[in-house]
Amino acid sequence: MSRDAASSGAGCPSPAELPAAIDELRQRRNAVILAHYYQDDAIQDIADFIGDSLELSRKAAATEAEVIVFCGVHFMAETAKILSPDKTVLLPDLEAGCSLADACPPDAFAAFRAEHPDHLVVSYINCSAAVKAQSDLICTSSNAVDLVRQLPAERPILFAPDQNLGRWVQRQSGRELTLWPGSCQVHETFSEQALLQLQLEHPGAEVLAHPECQQHLLDLADFIGSTSKLLQRAEASDADSFIVLTEPGILHQMRKRVPHRTFFEVPGADGCSCNACPYMRLNTLEKLWRCLHTNEPRIEMDEELRLRALAPIETMLAMSR
Ligand code: 13P
Ligand code: SF4
Repeated sequence: MSRDAASSGAGCPSPAELPAAIDELRQRRNAVILAHYYQDDAIQDIADFIGDSLELSRKAAATEAEVIVFCGVHFMAETAKILSPDKTVLLPDLEAGCSLADACPPDAFAAFRAEHPDHLVVSYINCSAAVKAQSDLICTSSNAVDLVRQLPAERPILFAPDQNLGRWVQRQSGRELTLWPGSCQVHETFSEQALLQLQLEHPGAEVLAHPECQQHLLDLADFIGSTSKLLQRAEASDADSFIVLTEPGILHQMRKRVPHRTFFEVPGADGCSCNACPYMRLNTLEKLWRCLHTNEPRIEMDEELRLRALAPIETMLAMSR
């Protein structure tokens, strides 16, 4: 096997050889590769399964593989470990965190809960295992509205950690929510001015937005949903073009599934590329190969914490069947 030490580091196959080398290791290790829609195109193309948070957690629960390689961020790989404690769960880059999960430190969250002892605690899956363990119910952006609608009308609800998603769930479900004041740095970066300019240039374009966006942007959207719902909408819509208000990794699947349509991403406020999630993009094909090669870095979890975090995820899976 040839080496390209300059670009890939010692021991790693050359970029051209990486896909075949990953494939060979995946089979040898009996591994399944899961990728979120925000991963680089090359990672999406090599994954066994691509999906949103809900789909990936279901897949993680159902897989027969001995090893799960989670091409996503830390809370997603943690969720896989919570659901599959006997499997080895690998995250290609352990630094792949999440600004939203980080915005909800477990101790501060415990104090917030203590101020609202009568509330049911609903946490978006984008949070740490330690916050999940303090929750009654986990939701994703795909099922949040449906789950909140199912909760007993007489119980007040605390929603964490995304206040933008929480406000949207509040509007859709008609339920009042006490919100933890967190947000995603990527979904708060989109420029309204750039969006309005794109709408002027492409008057027939449909605006698709993720509910983690701020309300003033959601107010300009034609359709709001999780990554998989935005993808489904792009496939079902008659529009010729789409302006997409979420991380631009999703455009790869949109262009693959509806190749005859045009998709525009919305830049950040300074025209920067900060609309790309810096955590998701830490994963690379090389790191994917390396983690399969070394069986590291692994997600490890204290069993008592795992069981406490598992309960509200199982409630979610049962309620969203
Ligand atoms: P979904 O893919 O569940 O819509 O989540 C988006 C997201 O921000 C994941 O980090
Ligand atoms: Fe977290 Fe936002 Fe990145 Fe999703 S896009 S992983 S919420 S920082």
